[in-house]
Amino acid sequence: MLVSPAGYLRGGKAGLMAEIDFPPLLACQNISLDLGGREILRNIELEIRPGEVLGIIGPNGAGKTSLIEILSGRYSPKTGTVKYKGKDITGLQLYERSRIGIGRTYQTPVVPEDLTVGQTFKAARQAYKPYLTRFDAEYASNLVNFVTDESVPTSVLETFNRRKLLLATLLLRGPELLLMDEPAAGLINSEVEEIDEILRTLSKEMNIAVLIVEHRIELLDTIADSVIVMDAGEIIARGKLHDIIDSPAVRAAYFEVAH
Ligand SMILES: Nc1ncnc2c1ncn2[C@@H]1O[C@H](COP(=O)(O)OP(=O)(O)OP(=O)(O)O)[C@@H](O)[C@H]1O
Ligand SMILES: [Mg+2]
Repeated sequence: MLVSPAGYLRGGKAGLMAEIDFPPLLACQNISLDLGGREILRNIELEIRPGEVLGIIGPNGAGKTSLIEILSGRYSPKTGTVKYKGKDITGLQLYERSRIGIGRTYQTPVVPEDLTVGQTFKAARQAYKPYLTRFDAEYASNLVNFVTDESVPTSVLETFNRRKLLLATLLLRGPELLLMDEPAAGLINSEVEEIDEILRTLSKEMNIAVLIVEHRIELLDTIADSVIVMDAGEIIARGKLHDIIDSPAVRAAYFEVAH
């Protein structure tokens, strides 16, 4: 089991973590975004530290995915900056951000339909120079509990195994930050518990920061160190989940939206 020094320090949250202020891994300021002539995001500011799990919740259309698109480099913001390890990366493309340690997952896990599991890993390993080994792929598979035989075509994998396969190939890059858009969407309860476990391993043992968008508040209860609540393109609350969940703004935006 890999336990980084920072991970060890975080283990003693109540004591050491409270005293040591780690610099942010990723920080964005004053982010706004227009799409199709509409303002989609307004004045978004957030920070995430190494190994931290930051949850983003909010009703449909709040702008959660759009924010991930900006942080991952698929969209350019109208205003604002994104910094990674203190450097301004606002102008970097998706592939450039992935090279410096920012990985992202999508709401729908799209796998290469005409490859087997083994061929998918091989293609992922050979995207590196020097090529990564089969052991690297095995290690990444173990981290996400992916135990499917290499000969299985990816097209027959269920949603959860697709997610695991994609996550394992992403982990081959050794990301320090994962931007995850609803990784529990479409999963049954036991799978949700397992993905919680996997994310805990990645954050607390591998020291990977995880920004996780999730609709269902209860799923973040156990895993997120803190949460941000978005509504209509803005951040309306942030903090520990249990501290903000009953605030009038969150109740109005989140719970009462379905009525
Ligand atoms: N390409 C686009 N052009 C115009 N408007 C868009 C575009 N993409 C998203 N939007 C709008 O931006 C708003 C935010 O969408 P976004 O997908 O970021 O929300 P979300 O919080 O991820 O929602 P969900 O919970 O349904 O996934 C929505 O009103 C959506 O209709
Ligand atoms: Mg979304």
